[in-house]
Amino acid sequence: MTKQLSVPHLLGIKGMTQEDLELIFETADQFKEVINRPIKKVPSLRDITIVNLFFENSTRTKLSFELAEKRLSADIINFAASSSSVQKGETLIDTVNNILAMKVDMVVMRHPDVGAAKFLSRHVNATIVNAGDGTHEHPTQAILDAYSIREKLGKVKDVKVLIVGDILHSRVALSNIYALNLLGAKVKVCGPPSLIPKNIKSLGVGVEYNLEKALQWADVANILRVQNERMDVKYFPSGREYAQLYGVNMHLLDKIGKEIVIMHPGPINRGVEITSEVADSKKAIILDQVENGVATRMAVLYLLAEQIKPN
Ligand code: CP
Repeated sequence: MTKQLSVPHLLGIKGMTQEDLELIFETADQFKEVINRPIKKVPSLRDITIVNLFFENSTRTKLSFELAEKRLSADIINFAASSSSVQKGETLIDTVNNILAMKVDMVVMRHPDVGAAKFLSRHVNATIVNAGDGTHEHPTQAILDAYSIREKLGKVKDVKVLIVGDILHSRVALSNIYALNLLGAKVKVCGPPSLIPKNIKSLGVGVEYNLEKALQWADVANILRVQNERMDVKYFPSGREYAQLYGVNMHLLDKIGKEIVIMHPGPINRGVEITSEVADSKKAIILDQVENGVATRMAVLYLLAEQIKPN
């Protein structure tokens, strides 16, 4: 029997197993080879229809899912909440059920509310893929991040991964912590005390408030954006002070005297959490992460679709 995921939906990394992630990586390896061929398409999802439902802005995730679906030959429709009947008061369940009535099999959804993907999975008859739900999880970002570490360093187990920045508001941080823990990496977070959740150590990660010390420890630094759009109060005095204390710059990387891999999920605020010199340097694998997003999302969609295809 071919291997299958242990979950019917991709709602979060929490609830998945190490075997699930390894299966996604092995499948993504094959799709990465496909998308580097002159003919970048396979017929795997020819009978599957997918809606991309975005209630929040996105560049990378939306385009990456769309491309992954096209490379797999799925039929796709795109939905942007800002130009839909959601603006006339339609509920999430009504919106989705109306779309599903058009014979749609899978829903890829980004939503500002924590738990929106799980809620949907309990109320509609379709496979749900969480493309980011509020400050909760962004599972495919964590999958592509871990895959990119595996590609760059040959393994994830025992790699020391530092997550720097606004941990409090970050769905990327939470999903990365779950995924890296499952894969046996060592994880620390670093940022201003006001942006580190008080209970973070209960997730099995270390905390270091001094950026230089934290970088000295790390093999990989995954640098996160300050998510101003999720802040209703001031968490630090100014962007300038943030950049001085928690911005990753080349001076700091030279000072620590060792090579570390620099990652960023995007979008970048250049000059705040990372300087252009670092973001555009050979140390950074930021665009490799974006490239790997397509292959890993192809793997996720392919493996989930295997569970709903008629025999
Ligand atoms: N990394 C990420 O989720 O980027 P987008 O918001 O552009 O999709």
